[in-house]
Amino acid sequence: MRSENLDLLLKETVESFLEKIKGENIEVISHFDSDGITSAAIMAQSLKRLDQKFSLKIIKSLTGEFIHSLEKDRIIVFLDLASGSLKNIKEARLKKVFIIDHHEIKAEDIPENVEIVNPELCEKQKISSAGLTYLFCKKIDERNKEFAKLAVVGMIGDMLDKEIGELNYGILEDGEIQKKRGLLIYPSTRPINKVLEFSSSPIIPGVTGDSIGVSELLRESGLKPENGKYKNLVDLTEEEMERLVTSIILRNPKKKHKDLIGDLFLIKIFGKLEDAREISAKINACSRNGRPDVSLGFCLENLEAKKKAESIHTKYRQQLIAGIKYAQTGDKISGKGYVIINAKDKIKDTMIGTVSSIIANSPGYEEGTVIIGMSYDGGRKIKVSARNVGKEGRNLKELLSEVMESFEGEVGGHHSAAGCIIDMDDEEEFIENIKKHLEIEVVRVGRETIPSPDPDI
Ligand code: C5P
Ligand code: C5P
Repeated sequence: MRSENLDLLLKETVESFLEKIKGENIEVISHFDSDGITSAAIMAQSLKRLDQKFSLKIIKSLTGEFIHSLEKDRIIVFLDLASGSLKNIKEARLKKVFIIDHHEIKAEDIPENVEIVNPELCEKQKISSAGLTYLFCKKIDERNKEFAKLAVVGMIGDMLDKEIGELNYGILEDGEIQKKRGLLIYPSTRPINKVLEFSSSPIIPGVTGDSIGVSELLRESGLKPENGKYKNLVDLTEEEMERLVTSIILRNPKKKHKDLIGDLFLIKIFGKLEDAREISAKINACSRNGRPDVSLGFCLENLEAKKKAESIHTKYRQQLIAGIKYAQTGDKISGKGYVIINAKDKIKDTMIGTVSSIIANSPGYEEGTVIIGMSYDGGRKIKVSARNVGKEGRNLKELLSEVMESFEGEVGGHHSAAGCIIDMDDEEEFIENIKKHLEIEVVRVGRETIPSPDPDI
């Protein structure tokens, strides 16, 4: 299929959407990460412009139980989720469902009352859910172009920024986003010493979480404070940046020059130019701390939400650094081609996905290694996050789905980043089972390395 087909799909779905929602009360349900929150913010503001009655729920994960609890006589709009839940949606006998999502989906499973915008059904274009929601809402009303910057934040949140396709370029232009080449450490709009100390992506050994290490690195790079203050990253000269990159590579040889330099996206929010990565991180921090309402308020540029978001983010960054340190130094189950970090209650369930991604991007693991992070959710469940190291590896969504055939629980994701939720009673059995799968897979992968279509992990 050609890329125009996504455009056609959007057009047809928007037409049907506008017709079906007339006089109805609709319920929008979105995911709590930055892609989901920005999707929700775009949709909410577009529906308001339409004078459409709606309610909004932000959820951590979509369970069968939740789907079955939804009111049957409302129109449901799922954003950034539900592609993997079509069976439950069918069984729940909902009146009408719209899904705007980019997760893996089986085309043959689509129930009759469900309309879906998902690039996986077209040419598999890489675009975030916020990008899709934006394109959808722009077709509702051209004035919704003003929300393009939120779509860019969602795109950054899903790290799709490295392979900006035609679709995303259009959104950047709509949002008058400033794009600059620079060191891919955020926030580029803050003093470089602070940015380095809290750098978790990438981790810089001896520097991340270590203010003395930061000073040493800066000294080595020939960067000095002026009037007691270091420059912002975005203001470094080309030469200063190159020296800094060299010093970082010396400490993290796994990172290549091309991995560290890339596009920085600056968006105007609250009247100030900010690094889109930082905005995305802030949204994630609030949501993962149980305050998606603050994330959403922040996207709607509410000043109270801004203050709250900043204080939550500061605390979150500290917890994240502690989580990474635990993942690096705590007990691990290591096998050929895999590492299982069962953090139990040492890392929050809302942070294990991020920690697993960071570990997968850190030095020390061979390409193709599978990182499995596990942590207790504070109740009777365990959150599992799987990530591939490097650009090659097995399909983790498939791997977890196979393992989960023996257990009760939700599973979903992408080729190189997938997750599931299991019962605490199944902890040991799950670990044994996943080890078996990983070991069998290694033999197969050893013979025919399967290239990953996901370029960024
Ligand atoms: O939760 P985590 O960050 O590990 O998830 C990785 C990917 O898998 C994300 O895209 C997430 O939305 C997806 N996922 C899912 N269903 C789950 C758990 C994770 O679709 N039950
Ligand atoms: O999409 P999910 O929340 O819902 O995505 C979050 C994680 O999935 C991130 O770690 C991101 O890098 C990864 N991802 C991916 N391939 C995609 C989209 C997201 O590996 N196509």
